[in-house]
Amino acid sequence: MNRLKFCLADGRVVRFEDLREQDLPEVVEALNSVIREGVYLTLNEEIVDMETERKWYHDHMEAGMTYLVVRVDDEIVGGGSIEPRVGKESHVAVYGVFVKEGFRNMGIGTRLTDALIEVARQRGFEIVELAVYGSNERAFHVYKKCGFQEVARIKRGVKLPDGTYTEKIVMVLPLGERHE
Ligand SMILES: CC(C)(COP(=O)(O)OP(=O)(O)OC[C@H]1O[C@@H](n2cnc3c(N)ncnc32)[C@H](O)[C@@H]1OP(=O)(O)O)[C@@H](O)C(=O)NCCC(=O)NCCS
Repeated sequence: MNRLKFCLADGRVVRFEDLREQDLPEVVEALNSVIREGVYLTLNEEIVDMETERKWYHDHMEAGMTYLVVRVDDEIVGGGSIEPRVGKESHVAVYGVFVKEGFRNMGIGTRLTDALIEVARQRGFEIVELAVYGSNERAFHVYKKCGFQEVARIKRGVKLPDGTYTEKIVMVLPLGERHE
């Protein structure tokens, strides 16, 4: 399903669409390019096994994930998801996002974050939660701009490939009347 369509400053068309199984190879290719950068995401190893990836897709869709891919013209250049925690925390949605190098700082990540917050609101979640690395100042800026508040900072929570440490920051966005 096409969720949102807008144009970049240079006229290229951006679409946010629900992830379909047939998109997985292209999403994995985009995600692997960010994993290779080595500093933004938790995963150290690229995803190589498409069978495991397809199982991941079905398991997480069943668990209630909403995953939107970002298409610029026809190329998938990013994605973002919300997924409920389980049991007594199932009113909390966990958020994750990535945009490929070459497509950053064009407003895509902000629009995608706003779009998934709106999905979370419509689906009745009460809190959206995420984790971001202290060294990732751009992502931290985007999340604050979209309304997330920092609630915890774990010193030396992350060890980067060059051996230096950065903090793991937990951020939340309360939704709905119960928090107002
Ligand atoms: C984080 C990410 C999703 C943001 O998406 P994006 O499309 O680049 O973001 P936008 O273009 O909407 O906004 C970027 C904002 O950060 C600002 N920014 C850029 N570099 C910055 C920096 N070093 N420090 C602070 N702010 C910075 C821009 O000025 C812009 O803010 P503004 O709109 O207020 O001017 C994307 O950059 C990304 O995927 N990065 C790599 C993977 C990643 O970090 N994923 C998130 C892991 S928690």
